[in-house]
Amino acid sequence: MNVLVIGSGGREHALAWKLSVSPQVDQVYVAPGNPGMDHVAERLPIAGDDGEALAAAAKKYDVDLTVIGPEAALLAGVADIFEREGLKVFGPRKAAARIEGSKAFAKDVMKRYGIPTAEYAVFTDFDEAKEYLVEKGTPIVVKADGLAAGKGVTVAKTLQEAEAALIDILKDDTFGTGAKVVLEEYLEGEEISLMGLVHGDTVLPLTESQDHKRAFDHDEGPNTGGMGAYSPVPHIGKDVIEEAIDAILNPVAAAMVTEGTPFTGVLYAGLMLTESGPKAIEFNARFGDPEAQVILPRLQDDLAELILEVLNDRTPKLTWKPETLIGVVAAAEGYPGNYQKGLLVPSNETFHAEESMIFYAGVGGETDNLRSSGGRVFLVASFGKTITKAQKNVYKRMRSMNLEGYHYRKDIGNGGVGE
Ligand SMILES: Nc1ncnc2c1ncn2[C@@H]1O[C@H](COP(=O)(O)OP(=O)(O)O)[C@@H](O)[C@H]1O
Ligand SMILES: [Mg+2]
Repeated sequence: MNVLVIGSGGREHALAWKLSVSPQVDQVYVAPGNPGMDHVAERLPIAGDDGEALAAAAKKYDVDLTVIGPEAALLAGVADIFEREGLKVFGPRKAAARIEGSKAFAKDVMKRYGIPTAEYAVFTDFDEAKEYLVEKGTPIVVKADGLAAGKGVTVAKTLQEAEAALIDILKDDTFGTGAKVVLEEYLEGEEISLMGLVHGDTVLPLTESQDHKRAFDHDEGPNTGGMGAYSPVPHIGKDVIEEAIDAILNPVAAAMVTEGTPFTGVLYAGLMLTESGPKAIEFNARFGDPEAQVILPRLQDDLAELILEVLNDRTPKLTWKPETLIGVVAAAEGYPGNYQKGLLVPSNETFHAEESMIFYAGVGGETDNLRSSGGRVFLVASFGKTITKAQKNVYKRMRSMNLEGYHYRKDIGNGGVGE
């Protein structure tokens, strides 16, 4: 079969690579992709949210299955167009992608179906929101309703901070999300990511992972799109994961069916493991980035086959490499603020899937002469028998690259070694 991956980041590189090693897959296409993916996929120069052009290309190239990476494509209705055209697609329709596209929608679904999550209220009026804020006190979490590229959430320790966030969202619409806000109870605990392949109420849970969102070591500095991740998360008990599957992933998939917006694709639950059990912080309607880059190389099964199985409502047993995989993002110095483009980018000639891999994200230039074109440039992922060994491997690999003009965190995986 031929497959098409929509998107251009590290997540899509990991997806394209994993699909390319499937014995059933003849050709992987990626749209628009990046030149770091050329060893696994053929690039099609089509914007990731241009549903009509993508569907036309899928027909032209006899694509049998399309996997959508980024949320923007989903919320632009790319899956709807593919379905309308009779093309097989793994990704939710626009109406189901609202589980990510509107935090208020996600919270309302969780409330109606008794899915554990933080207590909350939704406001469009500033004075009412402020009244609720004063009544509840701090800490409190202030969330813009719509897609905000990871910038729309403030965990406020003081009323001033919370009020400033309210002004940003309700008065200034700083994130362009529309003037709607979710005010949410602050939950304490450890955060993990849990994803499942979903078709209606069929859920095939994947292994867990943990990401690192802050720019600098010890979780300091501003939030980013993600500076690294690792999987599995050894100190989280299997029973906790099972509880999250039973109390959160399965019921939310079933709820979406009942609501008349059945979900197809990767359902991602951001979880807070609280003293009273796992609670959902948010849902995403696609693979996490960088979580995909540390999960897919651990998967020993054929991803194309699994997706087809799930689309037929079957949930085969999965096999995961027991080793830990740690992925560290190499970002341009200055990211997530202003940064330089055009940095030299190491090639992937030492690409051995058994040990270390590079997944390219913000790169341009030519296949053999890549240059940085974004803030998060690439991710190096290395295996190890333990977290400590995986850290040793990944950082040795990164040091050997003599990166200039980059910064990366030196403590990815420390969440798993008791720091
Ligand atoms: N109720 C909450 N309690 C404590 N921390 C929270 C809560 N909601 C969100 N956070 C923190 O804020 C981060 C971003 O929130 P999230 O809802 O995942 O939004 P997004 O990923 O869209 O920016 C979370 O990863 C978590 O660290
Ligand atoms: Mg999140």
